Amino acid sequence: KKTAILISGRGSNMSALLRAAADADFPAEIVAVISDNADAPGLKAAEAAGVPAIAVPRADFTDRASHEAAMEAELAEREAELICLAGFMRLLSAGFVARREGRILNIHPSLLPLFPGLHTHARAIEAGMRVHGCTVHFVTPQMDAGPIIAQAAVPVLPGDTADALAGRVLQVEHRLYPLALALVASGRARMENGRTMLSDAV
Ligand code: GRF
Repeated sequence: KKTAILISGRGSNMSALLRAAADADFPAEIVAVISDNADAPGLKAAEAAGVPAIAVPRADFTDRASHEAAMEAELAEREAELICLAGFMRLLSAGFVARREGRILNIHPSLLPLFPGLHTHARAIEAGMRVHGCTVHFVTPQMDAGPIIAQAAVPVLPGDTADALAGRVLQVEHRLYPLALALVASGRARMENGRTMLSDAV
């Protein structure tokens, strides 16, 4: 399945997806990396990996609709069927999401539905959690609330800082996102009536 990755920054999850997709047996092909931020380090990494790296800076557009339309044009040109949000820090409109139900994935650094939004690692420590982790889910118009595809957990250790915990979570993010994309791209996980259906083959 032709897949585009949307980023805003570092792009370490993007790199993990590119590495996985480099395998001929991987069911998704990454056809473009699009960033809403021209300075995103991830764009350079995508370029270095030989993947079309396209900046569509939000600052170049007067409103969200025209910015989204420009991204839509890039997605259409590359014939992207699936979209992976990977540290993409912008909310997509309900229309954009509705047109692609079950075809947009996001990775979030918490065990959803706990800790949607920002500063998840600090909030998990503050809450006294003993486990924390990450979630890949289908994107719905409401932020960080779509049906869960896959999750991975890590321990919260005594004396953990938000940064230390973030690093531990990031390692499992890099394993989880390719796995979740493979499930969706191969049809083994799909969104139906607002839920994730996993086929028996999993
Ligand atoms: C990751 O922690 C991801 O879960 C969150 O934003 C961060 C992006 O990191 N959505 P990177 O750009 O993939 O390195």
